[in-house]
Amino acid sequence: MDTKRLEEAANKKMTRRDALKLAGVGGIGLLLGAGGMKTFFPATSTAKQAPPAPSSVDGTIPFYGKHQSGITTPMQDFICMGAFDLTTTSIDDVRKLFQSWTSAAARLTEGKSVDDESENPHLPPVDTGESMGLGSMRMTITFGLGASFFDERFGLAGKRPAPLVDLPRFNSDEIRKEWSGGDIVVQVCANDPQVAFHALRNLARIARGKAVLHWLQDGFQRTSAADPSGSTPRNLMGFKDGSNNPQVSDAKVADEIVWAQTEDNPAWMAGGSYMVMRRIRMRIEVWDRSSLDDQESTFGRHRQSGAPLGKSGEFDELELDRKDSAGKPVIPATSHIALAHMEGKIKILRRGYSYSSGMDVKTGQLDAGLLFICFNRDPRKQFIPMQQKLASVDQLNEYITHVGSGLYACLPGANEGGYIGDKLF
Ligand code: HEM
Repeated sequence: MDTKRLEEAANKKMTRRDALKLAGVGGIGLLLGAGGMKTFFPATSTAKQAPPAPSSVDGTIPFYGKHQSGITTPMQDFICMGAFDLTTTSIDDVRKLFQSWTSAAARLTEGKSVDDESENPHLPPVDTGESMGLGSMRMTITFGLGASFFDERFGLAGKRPAPLVDLPRFNSDEIRKEWSGGDIVVQVCANDPQVAFHALRNLARIARGKAVLHWLQDGFQRTSAADPSGSTPRNLMGFKDGSNNPQVSDAKVADEIVWAQTEDNPAWMAGGSYMVMRRIRMRIEVWDRSSLDDQESTFGRHRQSGAPLGKSGEFDELELDRKDSAGKPVIPATSHIALAHMEGKIKILRRGYSYSSGMDVKTGQLDAGLLFICFNRDPRKQFIPMQQKLASVDQLNEYITHVGSGLYACLPGANEGGYIGDKLF
């Protein structure tokens, strides 16, 4: 069976399994979220089964389609992500850049070189060559536009989507410009780090004369080779991270939580999504000195099993009202999960990676943490209220600092023959 068919089969299997699982927890409920947005998920519980195991480490994920890939796609092992600033002021150049990026990205995700090589040995090779023979490694390339893209330079100010706000300053933010913003973001995910780097490098090369890199960050999680069962990966604090993510293999759930809809405005964003990036540095040395009890009460989950405190299974239901014999909540009210759960009314799709970027030469401490990435249909109703709550009282704040930030409008997918952004330009 070829990889595309394997992937389709895997997707079909997931959907059927999810449907059965949802039916098993008491039916589907429609709840009204804080901002009036309807959220669609099981009425009694948000507890989920294990994320689906990827069908194989290699394989091609189609680039063209209604949605961009790399959003609801099951996570790959590595990320190489960069934001670009445009140096051109011509909208025609921007259009051409997206056309060239689209055809290059479609080839790269098929494991091909960026373009056909020229016959002329006196010219530099068209492709930089380091991914030759490595396959497509389930690579996805996802493009998004930052708020600065809609400033006065290209006459597009009137088209800035309302959900693409300037993120507010959150409590204890220490955001640095060099790790934030950018006119265009490019998220490359793949099951091989060299394949991911190669794609970003060649897209940067294509952009020469039109755009330059503003920031770049690599990230990782355990490889599929180390954990072929596809169980929930652990973050650098040693806890399973992603257990209670919404099941977006169910298209209805994805439409409610992730994809901008036609009625959301603007119409050209329908089928797209809003990506939040936060570079969150962990105070690893402080964390490593805290007791297991403290660590578990910080997250509200057991470290070994990933189960909510007081339970034994990772996907057991959260019972935030449960009290111990002394009348204290079993899951502390200021634990990360108690707060991030948002009473089950607001959800986001998290898709972050660990990062390790050497050390802080001034202190000798590790510069490592979480390259937090999440997707929402409207960040004003999802990420922002959630982060406002977390930033004010989350016990986790003792161990983390948000140092980079970005919000990007990830465009809808392109059809073959079209290009990413064609509905906007
Ligand atoms: C370094 C920073 C962070 C770390 C280490 C971290 C880690 C975790 C862990 C271990 C869990 C429990 C397992 C799970 O359900 O995935 C969790 C849950 C969650 N986190 Fe975080 N997280 C961080 C930052 C954030 C941020 C910035 C947000 C959003 C503003 C967020 C939103 C959530 C949500 C929505 C859940 C699921 C809550 C529920 O059970 O309903 N996290 N996180």
